[in-house]
Amino acid sequence: MLIRDLQRRAVDEIKRHALVMSLGSPRAQAHILTEYLWSEEGAETAALHRTSTSTTPAWVDKLAANQLADEQRHASLLRDRLVALGARTDRQPPGLMKAKLWWVERVTAPYMNAFEAGPVVVLMAIAAQLEGTGVRMFGRHLAVLEEMAADDPTTATLREILGDEKRHAKSCAAAVDRLVREEERPKLEELREKIARIDRAFGVTISVVFWCVIASYATRDRLRGGAL
Ligand SMILES: [Fe+2]
Ligand SMILES: [Fe+2]
Repeated sequence: MLIRDLQRRAVDEIKRHALVMSLGSPRAQAHILTEYLWSEEGAETAALHRTSTSTTPAWVDKLAANQLADEQRHASLLRDRLVALGARTDRQPPGLMKAKLWWVERVTAPYMNAFEAGPVVVLMAIAAQLEGTGVRMFGRHLAVLEEMAADDPTTATLREILGDEKRHAKSCAAAVDRLVREEERPKLEELREKIARIDRAFGVTISVVFWCVIASYATRDRLRGGAL
């Protein structure tokens, strides 16, 4: 088995265990939804916000605008759930999340002018990778909820979000394919691998931190009896 498969399996197992632990703990659930909110308002939108330039094709502008509108709707669905759980909606993302985006930006900077179509190729490749990560993140949580808490209001919210994220991941990847020229494909593969490597490198650390935070909230809720 390749290291990348091991990394992915480790992230899946650690996060799945934390998600099961979060059931029945309002604090743990609120923390998870807050992380999703950070992702909707940060990782999923950072690259898309920068795609619009004077040379960006109109169809990419339209795709980015539609997708940003979806992300905004996701953020408001998550805010609604947080309010329903009695949790705050103004917490700021931790350094680890910002560090990942900083590394992605740094590693992709040399490619900004490497493609005929311009920086939009790089930004859409980043968006495609992060949307794919979002699909795995929401899919993993939804699978746990469908099995163990199908009637929970969060389950309906995540069903709705996951459907959109699958569409986003596909359309960003298709946009990149459409933007690059045939002779640029090897360079694109190199770029994709570099972005994916950062995503994987942070994945295990982020999931261990996630497990520790969820375990601590779930334990506190068990000892104190629930309310936030
Ligand atoms: Fe989203
Ligand atoms: Fe998305």
